[in-house]
Amino acid sequence: MKNILHITASPRCEASFSARFSQQIVERLLARAPGAVVVRRDFGRIGLAHIDEAYGHTLAGSWPQAADAYEQPGSLAQSERLICELEAADAVVIGTPMHNYTVPSVLKAWIDHVLRAHRSFALSAAGKTGLLADRPVHIAVASGGGYTGDGARQPDFLTPYLKAVFETIGIHALHFYALQHTVRGGETVSAGLREVESLLDCRLPLGSACS
Ligand SMILES: Cc1cc2nc3c(=O)[nH]c(=O)nc-3n(C[C@H](O)[C@H](O)[C@H](O)COP(=O)(O)O)c2cc1C
Repeated sequence: MKNILHITASPRCEASFSARFSQQIVERLLARAPGAVVVRRDFGRIGLAHIDEAYGHTLAGSWPQAADAYEQPGSLAQSERLICELEAADAVVIGTPMHNYTVPSVLKAWIDHVLRAHRSFALSAAGKTGLLADRPVHIAVASGGGYTGDGARQPDFLTPYLKAVFETIGIHALHFYALQHTVRGGETVSAGLREVESLLDCRLPLGSACS
């Protein structure tokens, strides 16, 4: 593994559980591939502009598409940069909070740039076909309440949404990790972190594999 793309989407900076917990995943990947380069995109902190008029018109077919996407106006060039960054990554790590049952809007903005018809997926009468090579994507989710398992008390649009998004572009190797009930703080969060740690010990062991 040569390149790891690490995306975080929480506005809470250093206090973010999903950012810290996704960093643990990056460290485990680096332990397996010490020379790997990590490209960090902290969209929760720096933001990401939404797609613009040129993007909307081009994808709607009302404006012609330039041969070189970097030559495109506005957010089409941004889209090209973000797709190239994703293509260059052998593994992707995403740290995201659950916001209103799904991903935060900044992560949705990244998705709108990366899922681009005729570039990252093809359209045909049979539907959409992914044009990117498969690669592992590790997704660390922090949620204030429970959304999966016995303690789930709310809908989960985040997990099926991200599955559909990545499958559209040809990426199927998704690994989800959930740190739930963060609003309870204290021992609940400590127990959740221990649970996540043991799941990571199984999936991305630092030393011996889990039993
Ligand atoms: C705008 C907003 C919406 C939220 N919506 C949900 C939600 O739908 N479900 C939930 O369990 N927690 C929700 N939360 C709580 C966050 O998921 C929780 O605080 C989580 O720890 C944030 O992740 P972070 O620590 O990485 O910032 C919401 C928080 C904010 C700020």
